[in-house]
Amino acid sequence: MKNYKIAVIGGDGTGPEVVKEGLKVLAAASQKFGFKYHAHEYDFGGARYLRTKEVLPESAVPDLKTFDAIYLGAIGHPDVKPGILEKGILLRLRFDLDQYINLRPVELYDERFCPLKDKKPADINFTVIRENSEGLYKGLGEFQNKGTKDEVAIQVSHNTRKGVERCIRYAFEYTRKYGKKKKLTMCGKTNVLTFAWDLWERTFNEVAKEYSDITTDYAHVDATTMWFVKNPEWFDVIVTDNMFGDIITDLGAMIQGGMGIAAGGNINPEGVSMFEPIGGSAPKYTGKNVINPLAAIAAGAMLLRQVGETKAGDAIENSVKTVLRTKLKDLAAGKMGYSTTEVGDLVVKHL
Ligand code: IPM
Ligand code: MN
Repeated sequence: MKNYKIAVIGGDGTGPEVVKEGLKVLAAASQKFGFKYHAHEYDFGGARYLRTKEVLPESAVPDLKTFDAIYLGAIGHPDVKPGILEKGILLRLRFDLDQYINLRPVELYDERFCPLKDKKPADINFTVIRENSEGLYKGLGEFQNKGTKDEVAIQVSHNTRKGVERCIRYAFEYTRKYGKKKKLTMCGKTNVLTFAWDLWERTFNEVAKEYSDITTDYAHVDATTMWFVKNPEWFDVIVTDNMFGDIITDLGAMIQGGMGIAAGGNINPEGVSMFEPIGGSAPKYTGKNVINPLAAIAAGAMLLRQVGETKAGDAIENSVKTVLRTKLKDLAAGKMGYSTTEVGDLVVKHL
């Protein structure tokens, strides 16, 4: 029997509560589908930082490399200045574990939860593949004449051929394997950002020659946000850079029903990947047993698929769909008609 080592970082705010429900579902799935796992909890996050003044211990990255996958709740604490934990934990792990893909499925499970008029589940079903290791997130830049009236702040988007190509290749392979229409759209800004997107465009067109079975398309990022609202049914798989991917996937989360259901994976196809609900730590709901755990549970399903437990992953996703369609009144915290722990129990029951 397979035995997986899973690192669990509940993190801040409602992170630990939603991860707890995810682990409840994982435990039930392991019984049902015949695999074992060992979950090791880490206390990384804002509370630990405030207590120890250390964002991540030196041992964290080498330690985490020994796991099959990482299950993350949320990072972000109201008493810690914005940026410290995000950079020091979330982005640090993405970079140091070389999780160069950020995979964000956008799937509407029930039209009741879609803010767009007349859009049905068949219309909103695509995946965003966000480059996760470069671009503006590389943090390159400088101040000139800081604090004076002649101040200049430079923030550079750093794109390497190798980094762009591995992301684009992943996107083509993903489209071939999972794309429902076998269509890959590159979302960029070739008309203005003429260094970065020239490299992306050339690489995309070159790699495309090896995938004659895939239809390719291109959309500027501003137009992409328009199509997400007007014609989301045009998309199948989208590949984009780190910054644009960050922005369009928040919009993606909204059209699929909100942060309560949006899950994502930080993937290193050759290494250790990390799965998270993308909604953040929601401090005002902490400890109230009202937050929606479905995004975290769905992230757990993605984790299982990544380690190879496809059937268990699919079963969890189906149970999430059933519970969402047949039980929940709303996907927002406090409006579901059930508590956080009850929603976890319902997913277990329908597994
Ligand atoms: C996300 C988040 C992070 C990002 C923040 C918290 C650093 O918004 O996962 O999309 O910008 O990538
Ligand atoms: Mn984001």
